[in-house]
Amino acid sequence: MAQPREQWASRFGFVLAAVGSAVGLGNMWRFSYLTAENGGAAFVLLYLVMTALIGLPIMLAELTVGRGAGRSPIGALAHYGGPRWRALGMLFVASGFLILAYYSVIAGWTVRYALIGLLAGFEGDPAARFEAIASGPKALLWHLLFMGATVGVVMGGVRSGIERAAVVLMPVLFAIVVGLAIYAATLPGAGAGYRYYLELDFAAIMNLDVLIEAAGQAFFSLSLGMGAILTYASYLSRDNHLPREGAIIAGADFGVAFIAGLVVFPLLFALGLQEEVSGSTLGALFITLPKAFAEMGLAGRVVGVFFFVALVVGALTSAISLLEVVVSSLIDRLDWERHHAAFRLGGAIALLGIP
Ligand code: ALA
Repeated sequence: MAQPREQWASRFGFVLAAVGSAVGLGNMWRFSYLTAENGGAAFVLLYLVMTALIGLPIMLAELTVGRGAGRSPIGALAHYGGPRWRALGMLFVASGFLILAYYSVIAGWTVRYALIGLLAGFEGDPAARFEAIASGPKALLWHLLFMGATVGVVMGGVRSGIERAAVVLMPVLFAIVVGLAIYAATLPGAGAGYRYYLELDFAAIMNLDVLIEAAGQAFFSLSLGMGAILTYASYLSRDNHLPREGAIIAGADFGVAFIAGLVVFPLLFALGLQEEVSGSTLGALFITLPKAFAEMGLAGRVVGVFFFVALVVGALTSAISLLEVVVSSLIDRLDWERHHAAFRLGGAIALLGIP
């Protein structure tokens, strides 16, 4: 007999878990990198527009389908569209699976950065450190440990695992990001960072490539097309007001990314490091930011550790949601027991992350 469907304990818990899914490496790392690469304020504005015009409606669709069907993506799409739609559901699950395999590797780097900052500080050659962190057996070990933590939470179930983790972790993340933004505002030279981040260049808004990047970022950051929001909505009761919840989730997701930018850009400009990340690669922030932290002495070390802790927290709550997509699909379709599903699927994703 199929197991009864789990439910969130509270609306607040669901909203925090969904915001936790949305807020992750995408907000604090990918967003800053894309903003630097695409000329600052124009990208920020287009990203906001894409979040409102494309992200929010698709999120509402995922919320509605998930709650209406009360099933994970494969079953939910088949419920509304018939058996042929299963394929799309499988695509959702495959996306969650594949994204988590590399996401967890990068999350492992962030854990190491936080620990290195705490135990030894950020001094030294930042490029060599990045090389050492992002490759070799220790990179694998931290990827596996991160996946282990993710599996541990998902094993706990919707209420006692996912919701509880979100209710504890998300306020910590918000507090850190806001605290760091306030600190960044006190840095001499921060003004140039704000100008870059907030002053619009209308020519860049007309750039189709920037628009496409902004739309992609809205999708990734809101965890859309990965089944996470749909799956979380499947544990909702009927009395939630989905447009309101969707607006809160999208607003919080944009808000955290925006505030992260209020940390990153003043910091880079105050230290004259902006050239190092414009037109950058994804790795550049991992190299340039620690360089900034090192130049700021003890304050930089504290700021750096908090910054990476916030990244770890965001990555963990997002990873939890991606694993839940896969786990809930196997629970629904094959009636697997949650512990086994989390352990086996988390293990398979961890293995895939190794190459
Ligand atoms: N939405 C998650 C993030 O932005 C995947 O990191």
